[in-house]
Amino acid sequence: MEKTVIINLKHYQASSGSNCEKFLSKFIGMEAPADTRIVFALNPIDFRLARSFPELEFYAQHVFPVDYGPSTGHYSIESLLDLGISGSLLNHSEMRVDGIFIAKTLDKANAMDFPITICAESAAEADKYSSLKPEFIAYEPPELIGGNISVTSAKPEIIKDVIGKCSKFSVPVLVGAGVKNNSDMRKSVEYGAKGVLVASGIVLADDPLLSLTSLIEIL
Ligand code: G3P
Repeated sequence: MEKTVIINLKHYQASSGSNCEKFLSKFIGMEAPADTRIVFALNPIDFRLARSFPELEFYAQHVFPVDYGPSTGHYSIESLLDLGISGSLLNHSEMRVDGIFIAKTLDKANAMDFPITICAESAAEADKYSSLKPEFIAYEPPELIGGNISVTSAKPEIIKDVIGKCSKFSVPVLVGAGVKNNSDMRKSVEYGAKGVLVASGIVLADDPLLSLTSLIEIL
């Protein structure tokens, strides 16, 4: 079974702007198990770097349901593809949008085969949005984001509930919030998730490459 690890670079100083290139360079040539897919979710200020790292896979942290045109401050799926970014997160806890926005974005993205991972803060939200057929639902309890208690230790029952609800539409689930190590990754897979969405555990680590390799190594 393929596992996916999405590393959300957020807007941390260590992974943004003039530091982003240096950060991404750490992962060039890294060895990942053949069944493990690694994706980096970029902040808009760093989208243009994607083409400089052809061996890495990139998502955006957010996307808008707009086309090219008079949309100040927005950007389209077309423009992401143009820059070498092949998918996007949507509705992250730090970038929430309403249901109409999500439905419009998924309509367009699915018509273009552009994969979207919809973040959900609860099982009810996962249930609601899985019917839109995203690539993944990423379950992230907001109160655990950026902390040291992992969703996999604190919310095993809700993870299983989310997975059950999403299975009605055959939508795979990622889990995130407080994910730090291979025990978190292993538990997420044991519960039935297809991987994790992680940020501070990698971005803020003393050795981000070591953190990522130890997160994925046992699988
Ligand atoms: O998008 C990932 C995220 O919100 C989890 O953040 O720092 O708890 O891994 P973190």
